[in-house]
Amino acid sequence: MNAVNLLLILPLFFTITLPHSVNSVKQNSSNETIPQHFFEVTLPLPTDNITPSCSVNLLNHTFTNTTNSSSVTVNYTTPLDKCHWSVAVLDFKVKYNGEQDTSNGIAGVWINGVELLRTTTAQPSENGSFWNIRKDVSKYSSIITHHNLTLSVVLQNLMKHDVNGVYNVSVSFLFYSDVKFPLSLHSGESGSHSLNRKLMSFENDIKNYIKNCENEDKLGFDRVIKSTYPYDTPADLIIPLSEASDDGFWFKIHDESEIRTKNVRICPKTYKAVLELYVSFHGDDEFWYMNPPDSYIKSNDLPFTNGKGSYREVLVTIDGKLAGTVIPFPVIYSGGINPLFWKPVVSIGAFDIPSYDIDLTSYLGLLLDNRNHSIGFQVADGGSFWLVDANMHLWIDDTNVQAIVEYEPPSMEIEHDYEFEGLDGTFETEVERSMSSIRMIQSSKGILKTKVTEEIKFKNKLKFKDDGTRKELEQKIKTKTKVKTTDTKGHSVGEIVIEKTYPLKITIASGSRVNTTVVQGRSVSFSDEVASISRVLNHDLNCTGWIMAKGNSGFAENHQSYSYDDGEGGCYSRTVDVVKGDVIADETTSNCVK
Ligand SMILES: *[C@@H]1O[C@H](CO)[C@@H](O)[C@H](O)[C@H]1NC(C)=O
Ligand SMILES: *[C@@H]1O[C@H](CO)[C@@H](O)[C@H](O)[C@H]1NC(C)=O
Ligand SMILES: *[C@@H]1O[C@H](CO)[C@@H](O)[C@H](O)[C@H]1NC(C)=O
Ligand SMILES: *[C@@H]1O[C@H](CO)[C@@H](O)[C@H](O)[C@H]1NC(C)=O
Ligand SMILES: *[C@@H]1O[C@H](CO)[C@@H](O)[C@H](O)[C@H]1NC(C)=O
Ligand SMILES: *[C@@H]1O[C@H](CO)[C@@H](O)[C@H](O)[C@H]1NC(C)=O
Ligand SMILES: *[C@@H]1O[C@H](CO)[C@@H](O)[C@H](O)[C@H]1NC(C)=O
Ligand SMILES: *[C@@H]1O[C@H](CO)[C@@H](O)[C@H](O)[C@H]1NC(C)=O
Ligand SMILES: *[C@@H]1O[C@H](CO)[C@@H](O)[C@H](O)[C@H]1NC(C)=O
Ligand SMILES: *[C@@H]1O[C@H](CO)[C@@H](O)[C@H](O)[C@H]1NC(C)=O
Ligand SMILES: *[C@@H]1O[C@H](CO)[C@@H](O)[C@H](O)[C@H]1NC(C)=O
Ligand SMILES: *[C@@H]1O[C@H](CO)[C@@H](O)[C@H](O)[C@H]1NC(C)=O
Repeated sequence: MNAVNLLLILPLFFTITLPHSVNSVKQNSSNETIPQHFFEVTLPLPTDNITPSCSVNLLNHTFTNTTNSSSVTVNYTTPLDKCHWSVAVLDFKVKYNGEQDTSNGIAGVWINGVELLRTTTAQPSENGSFWNIRKDVSKYSSIITHHNLTLSVVLQNLMKHDVNGVYNVSVSFLFYSDVKFPLSLHSGESGSHSLNRKLMSFENDIKNYIKNCENEDKLGFDRVIKSTYPYDTPADLIIPLSEASDDGFWFKIHDESEIRTKNVRICPKTYKAVLELYVSFHGDDEFWYMNPPDSYIKSNDLPFTNGKGSYREVLVTIDGKLAGTVIPFPVIYSGGINPLFWKPVVSIGAFDIPSYDIDLTSYLGLLLDNRNHSIGFQVADGGSFWLVDANMHLWIDDTNVQAIVEYEPPSMEIEHDYEFEGLDGTFETEVERSMSSIRMIQSSKGILKTKVTEEIKFKNKLKFKDDGTRKELEQKIKTKTKVKTTDTKGHSVGEIVIEKTYPLKITIASGSRVNTTVVQGRSVSFSDEVASISRVLNHDLNCTGWIMAKGNSGFAENHQSYSYDDGEGGCYSRTVDVVKGDVIADETTSNCVK
């Protein structure tokens, strides 16, 4: 398959501007209570300390009674006809006051069904809590430059019982010009440009695209700041693969047999298609990577519903045939494993749940017949439930495109080794996938041949000991994607390699006191042989602690280290140490460690 996680790639192209300030959550000497600031350790945006050239506050809403609550929708009209910009940032602010409940809320932001952000809520805190998520949404420029759209926000707790928290949410877009960061590998171009787009409605755009294969509202390629593979330029059009319902635009998938589909028609002028998948897992599958097989549950006559073993994969199909797969990064939400771990620093990805890119360009040969095709979503071995939707990013050329394509759909090997006696056992699962494609694209840019190969390796070892009261997980997900492009003369014009490794170790020893550890990592490396650029991101966390089985008292330590090297002399690293909920150290440097 060909899934690339943009959220992991994008940060590789930010350079660091200003040192990060220490997050002091110190007590004020007056009696006034100060809400606690929650944060995710991540790369600051280069725009964080710049005044936006324009901004629009779209929504202030107080979410109460969030148990299975419905979405809030407001009108959206771009402010961009009177604003110079090159980078767009979504600013999502939350203030929370509520009871000490360890539930997690899930939230999403969509414009006309195109998802821009998937996020989770932080823990309640004695004096209230607040957090602020900023996300670069420039790659969605084809949608945020439109008029007469709707912006929808969902924030809900998916609990059996009612949750009495009150969330004040504010959503804004901030637009910046003159942002100097090399987002492109191929050019050092940066700077501000105004987008002189014809003002069109999104519906008209889609209608035009489908009926006449025309995209009147095409973005000038050279006008928008460049990003990277597979978003070298923002798409010309984004079609939502989602479902409007009262409680969000996601498809709620309850088991492996449930297939949710959406019809799309791709016009023959399309020369590139990327499906961006958003996914989160809940209920019985919140900790899918620690679920025992059904045979274990059955043989021990346990009342568990969280079975089906510990391998999951989101499958994307075109007309029923497998086109790509994603094994998601195991994001731990703020109530997970030991809720005390995630106060006030949340786990990797909890505030900005990664999305995954599946390059469907190889399937254009199948898709470019001007007919409807059904894009399907399924969760292999899935339990209840998964929230899945996607955005189809399309790039359109003015001249007709001929795409000659050869592809090998994803192949798979899976091995299970389950051994157990009574409540103790060892469950091992190994999965290997590979896919490759060769495509020749003729466009106004000439003929280019691109070979894409991708390998995914998944290893999961789960041990149950001491009559099943001690659980130990060791898991690793690895993906390697290679994209090699040559011109008609056979000269290499680009060779990109992206490698990602997601290790995870968890132990949970339950008694009256539950001892817990989580060691998790996310590392991404990107290299471009032709441009000789190599960028590396490493993020590790190490949590140890315990919590009483009844009540919320306990002890927790959370140590995180984050480092990023842009390969061109720009570096950023941060270490954060939290003990018993106090940030005892938070250090940032911009020196490259040699
Ligand atoms: C404490 O709070 C008061 C009142 O809100 C404020 O004026 C003061 O600056 C705060 N002091 C510190 C050290 O944050
Ligand atoms: C803090 O509380 C004490 C006792 O409740 C009160 O006497 C004092 O004036 C308060 N201080 C401030 C700055 O509000
Ligand atoms: C809540 O506020 C009180 C009074 O200012 C303070 O003593 C306490 O430490 C605060 N709690 C947290 C978690 O910040
Ligand atoms: C949201 O609240 C802020 C400050 O309270 C206000 O300035 C802004 O106009 C409000 N926005 C909307 C869309 O109501
Ligand atoms: C909260 O919403 C749920 C479901 O919509 C409803 O059953 C419940 O009565 C509501 N609770 C309150 C306190 O309004
Ligand atoms: C939103 O747009 C619709 C359709 O254009 C319009 O009927 C409605 O009044 C608008 N709502 C607000 C709050 O402006
Ligand atoms: C909320 O939804 C979940 C999942 O669909 C369901 O299990 C739960 O009973 C619902 N809660 C309420 C209060 O309706
Ligand atoms: C949330 O907003 C409501 C008004 O909508 C306000 O009364 C309340 O004080 C706000 N809460 C916080 C924590 O800002
Ligand atoms: C947006 O909606 C308004 C009011 O319905 C309409 O006057 C305007 O022409 C629309 N703009 C576009 C670009 O469709
Ligand atoms: C294609 O799908 C659209 C939307 O689902 C539908 O309205 C249209 O009738 C379909 N066209 C054909 C030829 O099936
Ligand atoms: C948790 O750790 C403590 C201290 O190491 C130990 O005494 C206790 O037995 C452990 N509890 C369990 C359930 O393993
Ligand atoms: C995590 O922290 C614990 C205790 O501080 C330490 O013993 C362990 O070696 C650390 N593990 C990793 C992978 O850093």
